[in-house]
Amino acid sequence: MAPLLEIRGLNIGFPAAAGLLPAVRDLSFSIQPGEVLGLVGESGSGKSITSLAIMRLLPPQAAISGAIVFSGNGHGARDLTILSDDHMRALRGSRIGMIFQEPMTALNPVMRVGDQIAEAVLAHHRAGKKEAWDRAVAAMQDVAIVDPSHRARDYPHQLSGGMRQRVMIAMAIINHPQLLIADEPTTALDVTIQAQILDLLAELRGKFGLAMLFISHDLAVVSRVADRVAVMYAGNLVELGAKQQIFQSPAHPYTRGLLAAVPDLTTDRSRKLQTIEGVVPPLQALPPGCAFEPRCGLRMPACARGVPALIEISPGHWARCPVVNSSQ
Ligand SMILES: Nc1ncnc2c1ncn2[C@@H]1O[C@H](COP(=O)(O)OP(=O)(O)O)[C@@H](O)[C@H]1O
Ligand code: SF4
Ligand SMILES: [Mg+2]
Repeated sequence: MAPLLEIRGLNIGFPAAAGLLPAVRDLSFSIQPGEVLGLVGESGSGKSITSLAIMRLLPPQAAISGAIVFSGNGHGARDLTILSDDHMRALRGSRIGMIFQEPMTALNPVMRVGDQIAEAVLAHHRAGKKEAWDRAVAAMQDVAIVDPSHRARDYPHQLSGGMRQRVMIAMAIINHPQLLIADEPTTALDVTIQAQILDLLAELRGKFGLAMLFISHDLAVVSRVADRVAVMYAGNLVELGAKQQIFQSPAHPYTRGLLAAVPDLTTDRSRKLQTIEGVVPPLQALPPGCAFEPRCGLRMPACARGVPALIEISPGHWARCPVVNSSQ
């Protein structure tokens, strides 16, 4: 099956005094129709700018190369990096929806939430105001907001954080996108609400056949929703595989370190969680070889010589580390 989204050799750089800062380097992955790909990595690893590149919402100074091919319904494959502004506007918010970490910054504080959701309809369809409003209320019902026709008249500040995130999700799915990009959608929420939103996303996925790029720094959250997982480190994809491959037999030392730092039910809460020693290298001082080399317990002299290639270590399971690859 042709992928719904295929990113090939994506590079994103930001101009700085010292030259172009390489925030994303040679990134490739794909998402099948209806599939959920979890994208994980520590803060600063390039997850958000990757999603902004897909939506073509990067700041204008960003330098981008590579291809982002989207195969939406009936339109064939289109490279979003070179699509016209008009076509991109038509796609954004209709075929591709997006939700962010903090709904308050994305919502208009002086506009009723129902009107804001209705605007998303009017931006893409010829519909009357009443029809758009009715569709907004129906979408609020889809995201399990109780008493949606009343709640639609509320302003964002009248809603809780979890309700606001539901409104954002209603806005993102109202035009029935094929791909939903969710960038840390539950990070700002407390644990109970977080679980409810994850359940809701899983339900919507089933109902609408949504594919998702689900971004989180939190592996435990990703393990609940993703079919496959991509792990980023300092702008590089370091491991990619089915959820079971990543969680049961992680290959890359960085993924292993991240997993060791995830609390689970069997973790003794009185014990301090293991963390990976050291910090992510700054973009202006990336090591010449493997970006994880300064922190890696398995490093060898060769690791500092060049960026390792991504190698398929078992069917569908890729890792950017020749050392673990040779020891598998
Ligand atoms: N507008 C910008 N100008 C310069 N650097 C940026 C800009 N936006 C992001 N970056 C840099 O790109 C890197 C990746 O950022 P981001 O994608 O936000 O990381 P993540 O979402 O994984 O936490 C970071 O080092 C960040 O400082
Ligand atoms: S390439 Fe070397 S430094 Fe990098 S993760 Fe593998 S063993 Fe560690
Ligand atoms: Mg981010």
